[in-house]
Amino acid sequence: MSTEEERTYLLETVQSLNRELVVISPDHVIVAANDYAKGKYGRDMVGKHCHAVYYGREKPCSSCPVQGQAREELFEHTEAEQMEGTEYGAVCYPLESENCPGCVAKVDFDPPKMDRLRKRLQQSNAFLHNLLVSSVDAVIAADMRGNILIFNDVAAEVLGYSREEAMARLDIRDIYPEDGAREVMGMLRSEDKGGRGKLKSYRVEVLSKEGERIPISLNASVIYEGGEEVATIGYFYDMREDLKMEKELEETRLELFQSAKMAALGKLAAGVAHQINNPLAGINLFAQLLLEEHELGDEALEDVQRILEDTNRCRETVRELLEFAKQSSYEAKPQDINKALSRTVFLLEKHAIFHNIEIRKEFEEGLPYPECDLQQLSHVFMNIIINAAEAMEGNGVLRVATQSLPGDWIRVTIADTGPGIDPQVLPYIFDPFFSTKETAKNGQEKGGSGTGLGLIVAYRIVRNHRGRLHVANHEEGGAVFTIDLPLVQHGKGE
Ligand SMILES: Nc1ncnc2c1ncn2[C@@H]1O[C@H](COP(=O)(O)OP(=O)(O)OP(=O)(O)O)[C@@H](O)[C@H]1O
Ligand SMILES: [Mg+2]
Repeated sequence: MSTEEERTYLLETVQSLNRELVVISPDHVIVAANDYAKGKYGRDMVGKHCHAVYYGREKPCSSCPVQGQAREELFEHTEAEQMEGTEYGAVCYPLESENCPGCVAKVDFDPPKMDRLRKRLQQSNAFLHNLLVSSVDAVIAADMRGNILIFNDVAAEVLGYSREEAMARLDIRDIYPEDGAREVMGMLRSEDKGGRGKLKSYRVEVLSKEGERIPISLNASVIYEGGEEVATIGYFYDMREDLKMEKELEETRLELFQSAKMAALGKLAAGVAHQINNPLAGINLFAQLLLEEHELGDEALEDVQRILEDTNRCRETVRELLEFAKQSSYEAKPQDINKALSRTVFLLEKHAIFHNIEIRKEFEEGLPYPECDLQQLSHVFMNIIINAAEAMEGNGVLRVATQSLPGDWIRVTIADTGPGIDPQVLPYIFDPFFSTKETAKNGQEKGGSGTGLGLIVAYRIVRNHRGRLHVANHEEGGAVFTIDLPLVQHGKGE
């Protein structure tokens, strides 16, 4: 309990302070002020609203320390305001006494201290800013109207906008294709992916300035102020490299699987082919003898001829099987692929199935010569071209093109305008004996031979040349086969 004397001292100290000391009521009225404050703002300041006295405002300021919620959290409140071009600072303390419940004592701030504080604030702001700008992830923050607030260098690199243009003109909604921004906001607000207001490792696409769709992995959060959404911040990384690597790994895995399968099948096929070859030769020989040495009636003659035809078909299959089983021994010499393709086309176009097919040759002039076994490669071209003609059922356009690729490779493209390959069938077309062609109807061959060995033989030959054989369906229809061959056969004969 302070004595009367003590109170007098205190009052005099307060009055003689070279600081503004005012007491403000919860309804923003100045209820007491020391002489220093009165000297500055007028002796009649007591009884007036603080916002009117200090800032000439009609309504309380938005960050008023007297106001309810702020007051509760408040022990020391620092206020910085721009007043007629000069800085103004104050420290506010809640006064929890019976005489003035809910009041706040406000003492003005030492300007040099303010400067130091401001500098510290600026430094920490600059540090935080640097932290975001130098992040290895792309960082973009935007307010709820879509204006960009932060756009770091990585974001600029991925999306192709400069930071300045993004800050000045870009709307956050523009970086997502279609309704992507709404989708991301929906996810952010839901509990599903990391809790409300958070989004973790969300895969979505963004649009670059050039309109390219870029897959990204996004971590994002909503920034709240007083429970209200005021901004969003997203950290993301470009997934193109990862996806490319994933795809390459998957392709390598499939190729390894395919090679292992082929090696095993190759052995089996060679064994079976040799076993069948001898009895086939016998059937063929005896059927020939029947024809030559006996006077056969019409029906018997037809039957024997059917035996001979079917035997021939079996021999073809056996030949293919042996080709398929053949080990990688081949003679690789630099060869003119344009010439080889021309020859293959020349040989094939005489066949009836090609009569209504327009063949477009788009050969690159001066195409480098890859080291290869021409006979084997011609077999590849022939199988693929025949497939194309069969797919088009003898009507359409066949494009045969060559081009050189960077890194000492050449590419042969064989594209047709047929129905393309059914996506359900696509994974199997390189499997031995896989065919969608009707081979036999009452023992009669229809359409292609349909052994289902054409592509696997082609695949094997291309692999032996250390090349790549790819197939895709063209957007406008038809299948496109590409054969990539290296110019030099490093480490051949392994
Ligand atoms: N250009 C193409 N367009 C559509 N489907 C194709 C094409 N090329 C191949 N295919 C599909 O791939 C399957 C396998 O082809 P592959 O050449 O291995 O066997 P095939 O042509 O059926 O028989 P063959 O052993 O006589 O060549 C075909 O049956 C067909 O379904
Ligand atoms: Mg075929």
